[in-house]
Amino acid sequence: MARRKPAELVNGSAETAAERGAPTSFLEVRDLKIHFPTDDGLVKSVDGLSFSLERGRTLGIVGESGSGKSVTSLGLLGLHNRRNANVSGEIWLDGAELVGASPGQVRRLRGRKMAMIFQDPLSAMHPFYTVGNQIVEAYRVHNDVSKQVARKHAIDMLGRVGIPKPDKRVDDYPHQFSGGMRQRAMIAMALSCDPELLIADEPTTALDVTVQAQILDLIRDLQQEFNSAIIMITHDLGVVAELSDDILVMYAGRCAEYASVQDAFHRPLHPYTWGLLGSMPRLDRERTERLMPIKGTPPSLINVPEGCAFNPRCAYCDLTGGKSTTERPELLEVEPGHKAACHLPLDKRREIWDSEIRPKL
Ligand SMILES: Nc1ncnc2c1ncn2[C@@H]1O[C@H](COP(=O)(O)OP(=O)(O)OP(=O)(O)O)[C@@H](O)[C@H]1O
Ligand code: SF4
Ligand SMILES: [Mg+2]
Repeated sequence: MARRKPAELVNGSAETAAERGAPTSFLEVRDLKIHFPTDDGLVKSVDGLSFSLERGRTLGIVGESGSGKSVTSLGLLGLHNRRNANVSGEIWLDGAELVGASPGQVRRLRGRKMAMIFQDPLSAMHPFYTVGNQIVEAYRVHNDVSKQVARKHAIDMLGRVGIPKPDKRVDDYPHQFSGGMRQRAMIAMALSCDPELLIADEPTTALDVTVQAQILDLIRDLQQEFNSAIIMITHDLGVVAELSDDILVMYAGRCAEYASVQDAFHRPLHPYTWGLLGSMPRLDRERTERLMPIKGTPPSLINVPEGCAFNPRCAYCDLTGGKSTTERPELLEVEPGHKAACHLPLDKRREIWDSEIRPKL
């Protein structure tokens, strides 16, 4: 399959890259905010997120349930209904800005330049159409080919993702596939248009460990072949360690720490990341080993605590002279390419990591 040349998105009302000072990265997200006005108040699901990603690289986004991971990924794909979501900031994809682009412009990019593997394949697939037909339709939206050619492509893709007898299974309905096969079929659907940006939201959570490993291998192989940029959203730090180059730790709609996987695992500099490392299930750790859960629960995104959102749960809150409960910590570059948002002096954080946390992991 030939890689498509970078396509022009911006025509019409959206400003061009040159007018706004385009970033050089393939994907660059700047101060993204996604807020939902509700009867109970404003839900700040994503509240000032910035990151970038190059082709051929993988960014892992981790965080507890409700931290804003899925809202972020849907936002990147332009899938929030602007009638009930306030979206601001900038999303630059290959030189085109998407937040200010029209829904039609963003829709044209979905499937052609970017695609998503959803957490639950059943919710992403239509129950009344065969798996093959769904791949055919997705392919034909962006490729001017006959049904026969698209069907051949669908069979080819199903074979590529490891569906046995793809020429027969292409005519099955989603419910005739097992969970693992459905996930593979969704990956085939997402990859059928050779997307340059693939967002995988918990792509393996519902699957058993063996199938999980196969799916991750598959994603990695396809990335190598197509040089796609991947955003991998997961609860599982083992998946991040295996697959990602960089990691973004989300807490209450914001970034707590952003670093290379190497740095995030070997010298994390945010108390929340320490908590995640201690509490999250990992592929490289026996399931029977004792986990150390982070005390308390994530805050409501309507009433995020003053100061650092993590302060009610942080064991080091009292060491910042009151700042943790009054001032929101900025995300600062603490080492080259390593950012963290915490008021604790850097030396103190290094000391705590070395003497208290690392020995327990
Ligand atoms: N349409 C909406 N209206 C109001 N609140 C919303 C809406 N969509 C999401 N939220 C809220 O935004 C927050 C973040 O949700 P999101 O689905 O992004 O979490 P997540 O990090 O993906 O969690 P999980 O790990 O459980 O998938 C949640 O509190 C959720 O209730
Ligand atoms: S700013 Fe304070 S509460 Fe937040 S993580 Fe750092 S020490 Fe903990
Ligand atoms: Mg989610």
